[in-house]
Amino acid sequence: QMQAKTLALSEAMTRACDYYRRQLKTAEGAKKYLQGRGLSGEIAAKFGLGYAPEGWDNLRQEFPDYDAPALAESGLVIDKEGEDGGRHKRYDRFRERVMFPIRNTKGQVIGFGGRVMGVGEPKYLNSPETPLFQKGYELYGLFEARQAIRDAGYVLVTEGYMDVVALAQMGFPQSVATLGTACTPTHVQKLLRQTDQVIFSFDGDSAGRRAARRALDACMPLVDDSKTIKFLFLPTEHDPDSYIREFGAEAFQKEVQDAMPLSQFLLKLCSQDNDLTTLEGRAHTQFEAKSALQAMQPSSLRLQIVRGLAQLTQTTPMEIENMFELAQPVAR
Ligand code: GTP
Ligand code: MN
Ligand code: MN
Ligand code: MN
Ligand code: MN
Repeated sequence: QMQAKTLALSEAMTRACDYYRRQLKTAEGAKKYLQGRGLSGEIAAKFGLGYAPEGWDNLRQEFPDYDAPALAESGLVIDKEGEDGGRHKRYDRFRERVMFPIRNTKGQVIGFGGRVMGVGEPKYLNSPETPLFQKGYELYGLFEARQAIRDAGYVLVTEGYMDVVALAQMGFPQSVATLGTACTPTHVQKLLRQTDQVIFSFDGDSAGRRAARRALDACMPLVDDSKTIKFLFLPTEHDPDSYIREFGAEAFQKEVQDAMPLSQFLLKLCSQDNDLTTLEGRAHTQFEAKSALQAMQPSSLRLQIVRGLAQLTQTTPMEIENMFELAQPVAR
């Protein structure tokens, strides 16, 4: 029964996706908007971009069972609360938005992100979670990027839909995005199944820097000596999309080459707010590194990081390990 349900969900998503794509063909404003953001028709087609027109119940044309309970589970429509028994008790979630279909690795449409053209709140409206769509698990663009990730030997992880599409347009089709959520260990695990190298490229603003820290935490239990994880930091006012459009593909390629290895990022984060010429500064640096190192599996990389930390804090790797062990909670 569960299977029948997800099948119906999947069918509804596909049907809606086809509808939005057809609408884009005649939506001059939306086409202009995408062109203005540097996207070709070809790249829009590759990602299945569409348009949800103005109006409260356009999907009624596509779904004869528009009012049936099943459609509400897809998140494509919203049931109006309240007592007035008006005719339109149910309405379309996505209206006047450029639509980004989210596909799972099988290529099935499982959700949407819809962007307002110009200003408006919220800037992006996303599908709610359904049995088909879990945000902590899915990555936008992974289906489209799979072959390119294999060819490039790495994946670029960004924050946004537009980053993925713009990077693909500019020659970096090996790009994916987390879906407005933090990068989870599940995301990282999923990526490391596809490739040995993950390069995070979040926005240069403070939210992006926080996202990088959280991604680092998500990576620590999963890294080993066969994997490479790096962090690409952009200027504060840029995200990958705006950067590559302003400075070009070659400049971005250079940023990719110069991306900071995980070990360096970790040690930088731990020491950056501390004065390493003081005992307290060095102690606090060790304190900051503790949970990350405890989360790591034994590996050569871990050993190297502990050595780096020992050097920074004028101790020995042995002393650090001993201290971490002593500090471990006693099992009950
Ligand atoms: P553009 O402005 O179109 O270039 O988008 P962006 O991806 O650069 O947006 P931003 O950096 O602000 O946000 C990154 C990602 O967070 C987006 O791609 C969305 O997935 C998500 N996001 C942004 N704004 C909103 C919002 O208002 N609501 C929700 N739910 N998610 C958002
Ligand atoms: Mn941002
Ligand atoms: Mn952007
Ligand atoms: Mn952004
Ligand atoms: Mn601190």
